[in-house]
Amino acid sequence: MVRKVILDCDPGHDDAMALLMAIASEEIDLLAITTSAGNQLPQKTFENARKLLALAKREDIPVAAGAAKPLRRELIIADDVHGESGLDGADLPIPTTSKLSISANDLIAEILKESTEKVTLIATGPLTNIAIFILSHPELKEKIELISFMGGACFGGNMTPEAEFNIYVDPEAADIVMQSGVPLAMFGLDVTLKAQLFDTDIKEIREIGNDVAKTMADLLDFFNLTTTVPFWADNQHVEGIHMHDPCAVAFVIDPTIFTTYLMHVEVETSNTLALGSTVVDYDNVFKKDKNVAVSFDLDLQKFRKLTMDTMKFFDN
Ligand code: RIB
Ligand code: CA
Repeated sequence: MVRKVILDCDPGHDDAMALLMAIASEEIDLLAITTSAGNQLPQKTFENARKLLALAKREDIPVAAGAAKPLRRELIIADDVHGESGLDGADLPIPTTSKLSISANDLIAEILKESTEKVTLIATGPLTNIAIFILSHPELKEKIELISFMGGACFGGNMTPEAEFNIYVDPEAADIVMQSGVPLAMFGLDVTLKAQLFDTDIKEIREIGNDVAKTMADLLDFFNLTTTVPFWADNQHVEGIHMHDPCAVAFVIDPTIFTTYLMHVEVETSNTLALGSTVVDYDNVFKKDKNVAVSFDLDLQKFRKLTMDTMKFFDN
C-alpha cells in the first residue's frame, strides 16, 4: 500500500539521504516537505531542502519552513557535524522555484484536511513542528497514520551522556509528541548507530554515476569526517557513517528491516543532568501505556540495498 507522507527534516547530511529515499520509493507518495531548525539555522535547512529537490528534479514537491526555534528554549545547531551550510561537502543546484510563504503548520493542516486517506509524518530533526501541529490541530490527529521519527535513545546519548540531539534541542516538543496518543515509531541511537555505510559503500554510490549519486557521495565523504568513533574502538576498528535519519524513512518503506518493541517512553524536560533524554521503560517497570514502537536493531544488508536502490533510482 502506498503511504502518503510528509517529511519534516533539518537537512543535514543524513536528512538528505532520507529525503532522497522518500522520493525514490514506490511505497511512498511524498506530499510535502517541512523544515525544522536543528542541524543548522531555519533559513539554511529550508534552503537545503529546496536545493535537494532541485538536485532530485522534484521541485514540484512543496517545501514549507517551520518554527525558527524550539518551543521554549534557544536553538542549538550542529554546525560542527554538518558544516556552515548544513550540507557542506557538495555543490548543490540553485532552486528554480519561488519560495512558498505558507508555514509548515498550515501546510500540514491543509494536506491532512484535504486527504481522504491517513497521512504518515516522518520527522528527522527536532520535533518542534510536529508538536506545534499536534497542539494547534488536535482534531486532525486522527488523520495521522503514524509518526516515524529519528530521535532519542534507550541507552546513551550523543549530545549528553543521556540525550540525543533531536530530542535535546526541543525536549518539550518531544514530550508533547510522546504524549499525543498518535501511533509512534522511534528510531533512536540504539538502532541508528548500527545503520552504517562504509568507504566501500561511498565508492559504490559514486560509481552509480548519476548526478544525485555523485553529489550524495560528496556529502557522505564530508559526513564521514565528523562521524564519531565509539570509546571502546581500538585501532583495528573501522566505524562507518551513521545513517540516522534514513532509518525513519526505511521503516515506512519496509518495516521488516527493523526490530521494534512497544514500550512506554517519556522525555525528561527538567533542567537536570538527564535533560532531553528519552526515558524508555525497557523492562516495563512502570506498567504504563506502551506509547512508542522503539527500534533496537536492523537488517543492515536490507538497509544498505535500499540505500543503493535509492541512488540508482536517479539514473533516468
Ligand atoms: O542525532 C542524530 C540526529 O541529529 C540526526 O537527525 C542528524 O541529522 C541530526 O539532526
Ligand atoms: Ca536530522
